[in-house]
Amino acid sequence: MYTGLQHAHSFVAYAALILLIVASLNAIIGMTSNKSFKDGDRKIALFALIFTHIQLLVGLILYFQSPMVQIFNMPMGEVMKDANLRLYAVEHPLINIIAVVLITIGFSKHKKATTDKAKFKSIAIMYALGTILILSRIPWSNWL
Ligand code: HEM
Repeated sequence: MYTGLQHAHSFVAYAALILLIVASLNAIIGMTSNKSFKDGDRKIALFALIFTHIQLLVGLILYFQSPMVQIFNMPMGEVMKDANLRLYAVEHPLINIIAVVLITIGFSKHKKATTDKAKFKSIAIMYALGTILILSRIPWSNWL
């Protein structure tokens, strides 16, 4: 079960990150060039949202199975002192949950926006911010 979840979390990460970058760039281009907001623009943002939510769900389950998360076996003070243990136990999950909340707000606010520019703007800002947060806390040295 653990290995399957680990592979799923690693594989979906590629899809989620690519979709988030494409959706952010698409919204930034749409916003700055005053394009009209089409169904294709909505679908790109929606697919990015779906894959990010799948990643969150797998990550949450993985948190209780992974040997990289040591908060259940070690004193919290020891975990916080070690940069690698702190990344897996605290920084990666916390920052990514915040990022997913921002991305979800961006998608939900675009639905309520009344102009095309406002729709692009909501996705551009929140998705770009969320993507930067996620990229800042990926365990790069262990992943690639
Ligand atoms: C939503 C955006 C997220 C992305 C893009 C992401 C991405 C990644 C990546 C690339 C890895 C390294 C995988 C590997 O070494 O094979 C990883 C590991 C991990 N992630 Fe996430 N993650 C996300 C959210 C979360 C959340 C919300 C949690 C927990 C609440 C979480 C828990 C973990 C754990 C426990 C590991 C270590 C897995 C292991 O090797 O045992 N992730 N994540």
